[in-house]
Amino acid sequence: MFPGSFMMGAKDRLLPPSIPYRFFVAAVFFHLLAWVLLLVGNEGVLGFVGGQGMTLAALHLITLGTLAMTAMGAAIQLLPVATRRPLGPVWAIKLMFILYAPGVALFAAGLAHSFAWAQHAGATLCVVGLALFGGLVGANLRRVDDLPGVTRHAWLAVASLIGLAILGLVLVIDFTKGFLPDHTSVAAAHAVLAGYGFMGMLSAGFSFVLIPMFVLGSAVPDAVGKRTAQLSGLGLVLGAGGVLVGIGTLSALGALLGLAATIVYLRGMLASLKTRMKKRLEPFFRMVWVAWALLPVSLVAALLPALGAPLDPWAELWVFLLVFGWLLSFVTAILQRIMPFLASMHSSALGGKPALLSHLSPKLPVDIHLGCHTAALVLISVALVGGWVWPLRLGLIAGLAGAIAFGVYTVEVLRRYRSHMAAAVAAHQQG
Ligand code: HEM
Repeated sequence: MFPGSFMMGAKDRLLPPSIPYRFFVAAVFFHLLAWVLLLVGNEGVLGFVGGQGMTLAALHLITLGTLAMTAMGAAIQLLPVATRRPLGPVWAIKLMFILYAPGVALFAAGLAHSFAWAQHAGATLCVVGLALFGGLVGANLRRVDDLPGVTRHAWLAVASLIGLAILGLVLVIDFTKGFLPDHTSVAAAHAVLAGYGFMGMLSAGFSFVLIPMFVLGSAVPDAVGKRTAQLSGLGLVLGAGGVLVGIGTLSALGALLGLAATIVYLRGMLASLKTRMKKRLEPFFRMVWVAWALLPVSLVAALLPALGAPLDPWAELWVFLLVFGWLLSFVTAILQRIMPFLASMHSSALGGKPALLSHLSPKLPVDIHLGCHTAALVLISVALVGGWVWPLRLGLIAGLAGAIAFGVYTVEVLRRYRSHMAAAVAAHQQG
């Protein structure tokens, strides 16, 4: 099936633009805030092996506030288009945002200042928002049997979401009650389920639709989707189970299965790229290459603490490569492409020509974001391994500069869309 066919009738399934965009704008804002917190609290970054404070707060402004927030905004619009079934009532999607976005802010504030009440209230709001998301996605997938690459990964994501939320809440309560025999292992299991499970499987599942659609390449065969889901599922069980019970060889086996799934996944993606109709890849794809390179690197890094290397710095390097290296690069790449894509889809709502993607997406801010984000990844990785303050500070400044550039890009896409619509309204009124 050619990906273009997904778009047939897609316009009928478009949500009002403010619905997905509130998620995208919140994600861009929390991304910026996370880098500010890391810079302000930079003395707590080197040697971070967990615990309350600015670093953990910034980590969750990225994981919950940027990664999961973008996944929610993309899923509510993409799943109905890909599966040709609505994702549930609009009021439920609005409620999801009203609970989740303030929950993220409150949870981060509680972690940054060690306010237990804010952590508990914020985490609860986040979990309720994520549960609503999981419920809406699950209800949509239950009736789909023709998209194994998407549905199997989405089910793995929903299952991982349940695990990460339970472990996340247990970790929050343990900050005040201190009842866990091994807090660090529970945190690592939470990170595996959240990073590779929830976010990883959503990213993999959506890329089976998005990448072929954005590059106009051939669809990825269902067999590839089935195989990556099987290998990933087994890898997640062994990876998370191994760290939870403290058996390093088990979690190392999980990471190796993850590497096998990654090879099958990347080969499927590259095969679709080879058949693409648009030979010149768009600017967003540069960040996709960064993400695809750092996914296997994060899994190799996971082998080090699994096989006994000291948590400081190797567990921190793994978390950094997983969250900032692979996931944040992939999510900002998709965000960079999906925001003007949706704006272009909506731009012909009043008749008249749709706004061109190239017109809606300014290039300079994303060039700056790519350069700064990549520099930040290299400098901070070197700083974490060497324990050096100056590469860390330079890396955090580069990360913040990149986040500001991405913010400018977002504001400019929305400004250009609004001015196109204003012109369309004027033309419409002149008849
Ligand atoms: C409602 C949802 C969540 C809650 C309540 C939560 C809670 C926590 C807590 C309390 C910790 C600290 C453990 C410690 O360092 O002492 C933690 C660590 C972590 N969380 Fe979350 N989290 C949630 C969602 C997520 C999501 C969605 C992701 C990723 C996509 C994520 C990724 C991580 C990572 C990577 C760590 C660091 C683990 C480590 O230091 O080994 N979390 N989380």
